[in-house]
Amino acid sequence: MVLAVAFIAGTILTVQSAVAQSEYHPSPENLQARREYQDMKFGMFIHWGVYSVLGDGEWVFHERHLTVDQYNRLPAFFDPEKFDAHTWVSLAKAAGMKYITITSRHHDGFAMFDSKVSDWNIVARTSYKKDPLKMLADECHRQGIKLFFYYSQLDWHNPDYYPRGQTDWPNGRPDHGNFDAYLDTYMDGQLTELLTNYGPIGGIWFDGMWDKPKADWHLAKTYALIHKLQPAALIIPNHHQTPRDGEDVQTFEHDLPGQNTAGFNTTYISKDLPLEMSDTLNDSWGFNIGDSHYKSAEEVERRLVKASGSNANLLMNIGPYPNGEIDPQFVARLQAVGDWLGKYGDSIYGTRGGPIPPGDWGVTTQKENKIYVHILNWGSPLLALAPIASKVASAQTLVDAKPVEFTQSADGVVLKVPVRKSDEWDRVVVLMVNKRY
Ligand code: GLC
Repeated sequence: MVLAVAFIAGTILTVQSAVAQSEYHPSPENLQARREYQDMKFGMFIHWGVYSVLGDGEWVFHERHLTVDQYNRLPAFFDPEKFDAHTWVSLAKAAGMKYITITSRHHDGFAMFDSKVSDWNIVARTSYKKDPLKMLADECHRQGIKLFFYYSQLDWHNPDYYPRGQTDWPNGRPDHGNFDAYLDTYMDGQLTELLTNYGPIGGIWFDGMWDKPKADWHLAKTYALIHKLQPAALIIPNHHQTPRDGEDVQTFEHDLPGQNTAGFNTTYISKDLPLEMSDTLNDSWGFNIGDSHYKSAEEVERRLVKASGSNANLLMNIGPYPNGEIDPQFVARLQAVGDWLGKYGDSIYGTRGGPIPPGDWGVTTQKENKIYVHILNWGSPLLALAPIASKVASAQTLVDAKPVEFTQSADGVVLKVPVRKSDEWDRVVVLMVNKRY
């Protein structure tokens, strides 16, 4: 009996410790990197690859149902003679963006970096012969911008991506392949290159797991490899699901956290992980010559403010031309947002979502002993806000420090909102409170 109890207790302990061991305990560097990531708030997403040549988005291989042999002709036309890392990174800086996330390879599997794992890469297959990600990484380090690598787990080119997933079409690949080798040798090999040859990297932004939702992606192994190579590197998976062990950021595609207007996001919001929303400056990720549906600078600013009010970063995408230039329409808008951040940045950088729930009128952000009330849509002179736990000592406008009249009671805070100036995108009122956030 005693032995039996001891055996059962032992078994329970073993099971518990196995469970405990499988839990991911982020390193102190990683936790620090998460906080810094949350402070940055605004990033530049860049979709750029050989697909850019066709000016029809990054899904063109799939959408035109090209064969692998046909697509193999494309790198010969990719010659980014105008690519200048300094110009790109300077634009991100001018826009007030603090990080860049660039496609190191997209679903076409084409590595935009010097990879020894396969010659399906920019150095081996294009007349350009150089590694733009190396130039970008060096320039980001020089200018103090964090660099993240987007990496597609989905692959339309490699025969070992087999069995193929939901986006399969007959493109000439054999009907057999070794998925374990694809993950362990090819993908982990390339990730090792990305985390070894480019200096300190902000993290890896994964995409495409949704192509084979039931597959074993060897995530524990890959995630452990990344955290071993660079403990501070954040793992940001765009799988649209509840975060899993080993992941460091929850990202939402085209949606604020918890909203699912795009139709594929989860409504679950992590309470522990930093949050991010990715979005496009026009309607495309990769360069699309037929897409002139640019969002205005004001619209980009509103999305950034709403993301911040939802405690999330905004990762705003541009798709550069195949020659390496950035569409002047993108440039103009990003610079205007940067000008706005030059004046209003205090209410964004380093903040977290504020204590008052977002509403149609706008959102709040908070930092130290300040609550920033971002009034985006409000036509009336008085704005009644939900109650907050801390006492408001004073209220003033952010841009010109003019006092704002207010009353506070158990029912909430009522602000006499300043009249909107014609060119004012966002009226920001700063509430000084007696509590530090
Ligand atoms: C989707 C698209 C992909 C794009 C990504 C960016 O997953 O398939 O092309 O890179 O969104 O969030």
